[in-house]
Amino acid sequence: MEVGYKDLREWLETVEKMGELKVAKNMGLKEDVGRIAEISASTEKAPALILDEFEGYKKGHRILLNPFGSTRRVAFSYGCPQLDANRVELLEYFKKRLEKQVLIPPRFVDSGPVMENVMTGDAVDLTTFPVPVWHYNDGGPYIGTGCIVITRDPDEGWVNLGAYRNMLHDAKTVGFYISSGHQGWTQREKYFTRGEPCPVAICFGSDPLLFTSGMTELPWGVSEYDWAGGWRGEPVDVIKGPVTGLPIPARAEIVIEGFSYPGKVRWEGPFGEWTGYYASGARDEPYIDVKAVYHRDNPILLGMPPEKPPYDADKGRQYIKSAVLAQHLTRQGIAGITNAWCYGLGGCRLFVAVSIKQQYPGHARQVGHAAYTSNVANYCGRYVVVTDEDIDVTDLDDVMWAILTRTDPATSIDFITRATSTPLDPRITPEDRAAGRFLNSRAIIDATKPWEWRDKFPLPDRPGLEYRLESRKKFGHLFEF
Ligand SMILES: Cc1cc2nc3c(=O)[nH]c(=O)nc-3n(C[C@H](O)[C@H](O)[C@H](O)COP(=O)(O)O)c2cc1C
Repeated sequence: MEVGYKDLREWLETVEKMGELKVAKNMGLKEDVGRIAEISASTEKAPALILDEFEGYKKGHRILLNPFGSTRRVAFSYGCPQLDANRVELLEYFKKRLEKQVLIPPRFVDSGPVMENVMTGDAVDLTTFPVPVWHYNDGGPYIGTGCIVITRDPDEGWVNLGAYRNMLHDAKTVGFYISSGHQGWTQREKYFTRGEPCPVAICFGSDPLLFTSGMTELPWGVSEYDWAGGWRGEPVDVIKGPVTGLPIPARAEIVIEGFSYPGKVRWEGPFGEWTGYYASGARDEPYIDVKAVYHRDNPILLGMPPEKPPYDADKGRQYIKSAVLAQHLTRQGIAGITNAWCYGLGGCRLFVAVSIKQQYPGHARQVGHAAYTSNVANYCGRYVVVTDEDIDVTDLDDVMWAILTRTDPATSIDFITRATSTPLDPRITPEDRAAGRFLNSRAIIDATKPWEWRDKFPLPDRPGLEYRLESRKKFGHLFEF
């Protein structure tokens, strides 16, 4: 096994030993938990938090917040042996790790800890779990934030996992909001267009690696179970769900099974979204009729409410998404890609930077356009910046310096119109929103030294990137206090 934990409990044990876990008790579900989540998103190096002992709920029914809130925990979660790696080193680890990535299908087992407690039929009661109202204007409590929704493609048979939010409508019903175009949405649509119910399982408490597979855009047809198994170097143990037959993680904290029916909807939202706004509002959405609930003793709900970016999910996924982008560009056969970074502050989508060693006329524009069309940056992207290789693309100050000193606004920016957006985009005009037109425009900013006179561009008064990183290794300690 290449990752040092098998489930969330083992992950927590190590994080506690690392001194990065805090426990807090007696918090209010209507306000306190949401306030704490908001602070953790905007705090650097915040600990992971276990919240316990909610009034009216069983002691031990807990909520975990902020698993990815420090670089050390991100390193540990993804199996990087160097826990004190800095941002650039950690990204290098992800890029190298991704090169070795294989797919390992899940292993079916007869049972597992998730089956320690079972509720079926009339006994199904999701109100036994403490579920917060996460943001001050949310339409209700959301049980599914750090969740993975499991569905099977009815034609092709493969299983998709996606993090799609779930409003707690009542004891036996949860909301099922998926943005159109996401793979779970396409699978659900296939059932609905045939007039058939869509079988669904949802895991509300998985380990950070399995959760990451669900929040990462993988190619169509690739099951996140196989991807997580490949990264772990060992298959994920799953149980055949008694109600739906879907594979459910054997070591999960809480899992539900049920069905969503064509044409059956309930009012969903509003819910604070990853852009930091309530853009998509509230509307009728499909829901899930919950037939069974399974949970471990003292279950832990993984809470990951979207906040103004970068929030917890962004702090974790910026590495994997950036590594995927760099690999995507290189595998297209484009020469000279030196680095890529999907900024957490843009929800890992709205602002993407790529550095290159320029090799031919038009190279920078090619890279900018190719980055925009990648799966990583296509959905609700906004700005793509291309820089020379001396710029540290993971450093916003550096990227802005390149934009401010190497671009000519009138000639350095290409615009693209009618690109893929979403109801969650706050910049969709009221008219387009009313008409259901969820398209946006993009700016490809070429912040490289102009190819034709690159040799005449004034020399920077600092050394190259490699030399600077070495300086920081050598003398960085002088700046710690
Ligand atoms: C915490 C969190 C919550 C998310 N909530 C939703 C959601 O409610 N609906 C949605 O369509 N995507 C949501 N996403 C984004 C998708 O999970 C993500 O784009 C994922 O890669 C989609 O999986 P797919 O490619 O298998 O469709 C969320 C992501 C995170 C990190």
